[in-house]
Order: sequence, then C-alpha cells, then structure tokens
Amino acid sequence: MEFIFGIPCTVFFGEGKAKNTGEIVGSIGAKKVFCVYDQGVAKVAAGVVNSLKEAGMSVIEFDGVVPNPPDYLVEEAAQKCREAGVDAIVAIGGGSPIDVAKAINVLLTNPSPIHQYDGLNKVTIPTKPLIAIPTTAGTGSEVTTFAIVTDTSRHKKMIIAGQFMGANIAIVDPELTVGMPPAITASTGMDALTHAIEAYVSILRQIPADVNALKAIELISSSIEEATANGSNIAARSNMILGSTMAGFAFTNAVLGLVHGIAHPLSVRCGLPHGVANAILLPYVMEFNASVVPERTVDIGKAMGLKLDGLSQEAAIKKTIDRVFELNKKIKIPTLKEVNVKKEQFEQLADDTLRDTAEGGAGMFNPRPASKEEIIALLEKAF
Ligand SMILES: NC(=O)c1ccc[n+]([C@@H]2O[C@H](COP(=O)([O-])OP(=O)(O)OC[C@H]3O[C@@H](n4cnc5c(N)ncnc54)[C@H](O)[C@@H]3O)[C@@H](O)[C@H]2O)c1
Ligand SMILES: [Zn+2]
Repeated sequence: MEFIFGIPCTVFFGEGKAKNTGEIVGSIGAKKVFCVYDQGVAKVAAGVVNSLKEAGMSVIEFDGVVPNPPDYLVEEAAQKCREAGVDAIVAIGGGSPIDVAKAINVLLTNPSPIHQYDGLNKVTIPTKPLIAIPTTAGTGSEVTTFAIVTDTSRHKKMIIAGQFMGANIAIVDPELTVGMPPAITASTGMDALTHAIEAYVSILRQIPADVNALKAIELISSSIEEATANGSNIAARSNMILGSTMAGFAFTNAVLGLVHGIAHPLSVRCGLPHGVANAILLPYVMEFNASVVPERTVDIGKAMGLKLDGLSQEAAIKKTIDRVFELNKKIKIPTLKEVNVKKEQFEQLADDTLRDTAEGGAGMFNPRPASKEEIIALLEKAF
C-alpha cells in the first residue's frame, strides 16, 4: 500500500465559532488583514469583520467576488491587496470567495499573471497566512489545496493545486449557513456529496480518504432534504457542513472524477453554478462508472443508509443510483434543458472535457476513461 494524505490546516468547528475569528486570527500575530467575500454574504462578513476589529486588527475589505470567479477579478483584487500591505487574508463565503482569496495569496508573494500556476505545485514561493470561513456546505475549499479560477481566454477552469495553496486555518460554523436559500443549499450540498462519491471511486482512492468520504456520504445524504426544506434546522446544517468539510479531506487527497470533469466546462461555457452542474450529472456518471467499481458503488448505497443486504450486486447498484436520482428530484435539481443548455453545445463541452482531462483536470482521476461519444451520451441523458 502506498499513498500521500495531508490536510493543510487546523479546523475550528462549532456553532458560533465564527464569533471567535478575531481571537483566532490574532493568535497567529496578524495586525492587518484583507477580507474577501461577495455581496451575497455581506451580512455574515460584517460579523466577521467586527470580530477582527474588536480584536484590534485593521481590516481592508474586497466584496467583489462573483461565482465561477474569472482571472481578471483575481488580478484586480490582488493589486488591491498588494497595495494594502497586509499580513493575512480572511475569506468568507462559498468556494468562490475562498478560491479568490487563495489566488490573491499566490500573487502576494509570486508574480502575476495567475495563469502560470495552473496545475500541480507550480507555486514556488510560500504564501501568507490564510483563514477560510465557509458559508456554503459545498466545496470544502476551506480544507483543500485547490483554487479554481476561470481562464477567460482559454475557456477553462484552472486548477491551481498543491503546495502553499491550502488555508492555514478553517473556521467551520454551521450557523453561517442558516441564511442559504433552498436552491443554493440543495445544489452546493449535492456538490459536497459528489466530492465524497468521486473521491471514493477515484483512481487515487486510499483508506484515509475513504473513511472521510463514507462518513461525508452518510452525513450529507441523511440531512440534505431537511436542510433544504427547513434551513433553520441547525442539526441538519451542522451535518451538512461537517460532511462537506470531511468530503474536502477526502478529495484534496484522492481528487475527483468525470462529474467534475464535465461540470467545469458546463460552468465555463453555459454559466451553470458549480453545484447545479455536478448534481445534474452525478447519477448518470455513477451509472457509467458502476461496471468498473461495483463494490464501491454498493458501499456508497450502504453509507446512504440503504438496506442492501440480500440483494444481488446489480440490484444493490440500481437501488443506490435510484436514491441519488430521488434526492435530486426531492430537492428540485433541474435538468440540463431546464437550465438552458443547448444540445448544439454538447460537442464543445465534450471537447473541453477531454482537453481538461488530458491537462490534469478532474476527469483524469475517474475510474473509467470516457470517449467523446460517451461524454456526449451522458449529456444527452442529463438533458
Ligand atoms: N477549491 C476547491 O477545492 C473547490 C472545490 C469545489 C468547487 N470549487 C469552486 O467553488 C465555486 C463554487 O462555490 P460555491 O458552490 O460554494 O458557491 P459560490 O461561492 O459561488 O456562491 C454561490 C452563491 O451563494 C451565495 N451564498 C453563499 N453562502 C451564502 C449564505 N450563507 N447565505 C446566502 N447566500 C449565500 C453567494 O453569495 C453566491 O451568490 C466554483 O467556482 C467551484 O469551481 C472549489
Ligand atoms: Zn465540486
């Protein structure tokens, strides 16, 4: 057996933990910090900024992050951050603000442009302390060594990965997710479930990642309907964000697969939110992969709490994938057609998926390689 397993940061987990941000950031000696967020989480960010100021820090704010963040936004924010001369960065939000903060951090100590760091371990100069505070139970970016930034000229999601890319501290507070509307709860939650499932069947699968992935599958699948329908249920919110963080532990080590491989082009070419693209594709890619990872697909069903004992392997796999279809239906995940993807785009999407896979993208780690025709067939099914 051989594997590499690592988590870049210390995790502070608990309801109300974000109120201690000032104290936690102060404990690493920071005096001047750059806060990165988007306007959708301005209220949550205001609480964090207050906590930092009460602890005696001066705070410079950047609230201009947008979903699927583009390269030029990172360059603009990095310029502001360099001018401010800070000694730490605090990210508040979903994956988009956290990834922008990671990319800004790269450009604080390494030269622009950001594109030259696309890939694994391309960042060579150590970055400054980064504190990540997630407000979605989705990406797990607070504990991963990836920053996903859109390359607007090549129409691809760059994956800036590896050394110096992780946050140093993650403050994971379920209370911050209570204000998430049902549709965002649903799609970001399915993103987290996808992380756990893809890590569990990835060609880089390994025991420490497996353990985290299975627990994440259990936590997320048991709570996503309740968190979506009744957002103020703090027990459900807590399960969701613990699940998404644990899925992060898994996939920062075992990486992902073809769901993300196709979802990235869907976001870049068609503007789909990351979680929506993953949720739509997940059950179809599970069907596609099941023949090469049958036992693992059954394990996923068991982790989802399904009673599979006594069933044939084929029946157990079907029941597992049916449950994912059922979850999508219950939490109102749309189809590709409903989010205005056009069939004429399938060829381009398949070409992009294959290009990204060849360049080290998520699809490279899928247990079953996919041809252009097979990718188009998956898109047809998800239409
Ligand atoms: N770095 C990683 O490891 C990693 C992993 C997976 C995905 N990603 C990337 O992360 C991005 C997606 O992040 P995301 O799905 O978390 O969404 P996001 O950060 O793009 O946010 C989506 C929307 O949700 C709103 N929102 C977030 N938290 C809220 C809250 N508590 N209450 C109300 N509104 C809230 C935001 O304002 C925004 O409008 C994509 O670019 C994706 O590629 C990164
Ligand atoms: Zn994802």
